[in-house]
Amino acid sequence: MQAGRPGLAAQLLRRKPIGQMVREAETGHGGTRLVRSFGVMQLTMISVGATLGTGILVILGESVPLAGPAIWISFAIAGLAALLSAVSYAEMAGLVPAAGSSYSYTYATMGEGMAWICGWCLVLEYAVSVAAVAVGAGQYVNEALAVFGLALPDAVSQPPGDGGLVNIPAMVIVVLAMVLLVRGAKESAWINTAIVLVKVGILAFFCAVAFTAFNGGHFEPLLPMGAAGVSAAASRVFFSYIGFDAASTAGEEARNPKRDLPRAIMLSMLIVTTIYVLVAVAAIGARPWGWFDGTEAALVKILEEVTGQPWIALVFAVGAVLAIASIVLTVLYGQTRILLSMSRDGLVPGVFGRVSHRTGTPVAGTLIVGIAVALTAGLVPLGALADATSIGTLFAFALVNVAVIYLRRTRPELRRTFRVPLFPLTPILGALMCVYLMANLGAETWVTFGVWMLVGLAAYFGYGRRHSRVAALGQEEYRELSGRDFSPTPAPAEATIFHQ
Ligand code: ALA
Repeated sequence: MQAGRPGLAAQLLRRKPIGQMVREAETGHGGTRLVRSFGVMQLTMISVGATLGTGILVILGESVPLAGPAIWISFAIAGLAALLSAVSYAEMAGLVPAAGSSYSYTYATMGEGMAWICGWCLVLEYAVSVAAVAVGAGQYVNEALAVFGLALPDAVSQPPGDGGLVNIPAMVIVVLAMVLLVRGAKESAWINTAIVLVKVGILAFFCAVAFTAFNGGHFEPLLPMGAAGVSAAASRVFFSYIGFDAASTAGEEARNPKRDLPRAIMLSMLIVTTIYVLVAVAAIGARPWGWFDGTEAALVKILEEVTGQPWIALVFAVGAVLAIASIVLTVLYGQTRILLSMSRDGLVPGVFGRVSHRTGTPVAGTLIVGIAVALTAGLVPLGALADATSIGTLFAFALVNVAVIYLRRTRPELRRTFRVPLFPLTPILGALMCVYLMANLGAETWVTFGVWMLVGLAAYFGYGRRHSRVAALGQEEYRELSGRDFSPTPAPAEATIFHQ
């Protein structure tokens, strides 16, 4: 151990000075930094791209039997739960414009131990979930190909455990996203924006068609399954909101992060919630709620029945593949940026933090993450691990709510470009809501999550603890860094002077 290195408890609690994060974002680490090219539109589209997907396309139909016609209320309740955490993300993103999202916020407030746990949970939320989402792609690619009589055999379109050997479509989607991300963040963001516009267009098309068959009588009685049914469905559809935090991994690539990140997070929540509620109302208006019980791919069936056109399945399957493609692109992007932040701190190997001079992207880190996710999606039956992603996500959300409370108490003077309304009620409710939703998940999921965390702890003690840069700072240097003032560009008017 180096001279002056803190003991275990002190190391776990040692916070990273926010000013140091801001300086790293401005100067890069090891010479090259990420390129600031995103405006509020691209940032919003990153969050919408990561959020809008299988939740609305598939889980909506499956959840109608739980809630009845009030399914749109379940979407609104789940949206409210997500919004409580989203406002906390918005406040923290405006304060700490780093690339690590909740990992960085936790390191700045609760110290290294919690930050590592949060970062490890984010690997579940990002890398593992993206592999699981990509697995679904095989099914939709096949539905699209089946319209032309070209369906792939199960052996190459399903993972082992689901009747196949390898899921080629899932691997192809991940590899394409990886190649795009290596080429450049700006190019990736534009392609993501185009895909998001198409997937929103397809859902708008669904609404336009379904509303032509609208029958107000389908909404009576509104609550056949009672309030309990609405609440059970709300827990289920919460999954559809996961991903709104993706913009917060772009803190070092936003042109004006302190202004635009909070706006992008709030805007994406507004867009996504509006779309979800409209699609839910349109679906129930078109078909009575009992019809959804046992109906697979309900949205596509509604389109087929209302228009009488079987080719409509193709539109929907293409929409689903695009939805999955933009989730893969944005979530893979987010994972590489979180690992970049962790690598700067020494908690994961330095290769994840190297930014290429030529492309301005973390090329090596993107290749490693992309290949690992592609292999996982193609070959590993994810099952239980994928279920544990919700716990990991909710845990990270809860920590961000706590981080807001902590910083308001300890650093009230910091200038915040976005403030959580009704403080401290909102973040307290936000954290409690996350804990409540976590508690609703089954015992088996908790066991998987426990095993995941044990592996994470082993990784920390085997590597991170010994390589931590913040822990390696001598007392003198730590004090000096913590006391240094940084005025982040490019918004000097909104710059905050950080002291720790
Ligand atoms: N929110 C994402 C989806 O619905 C995970 O697919």
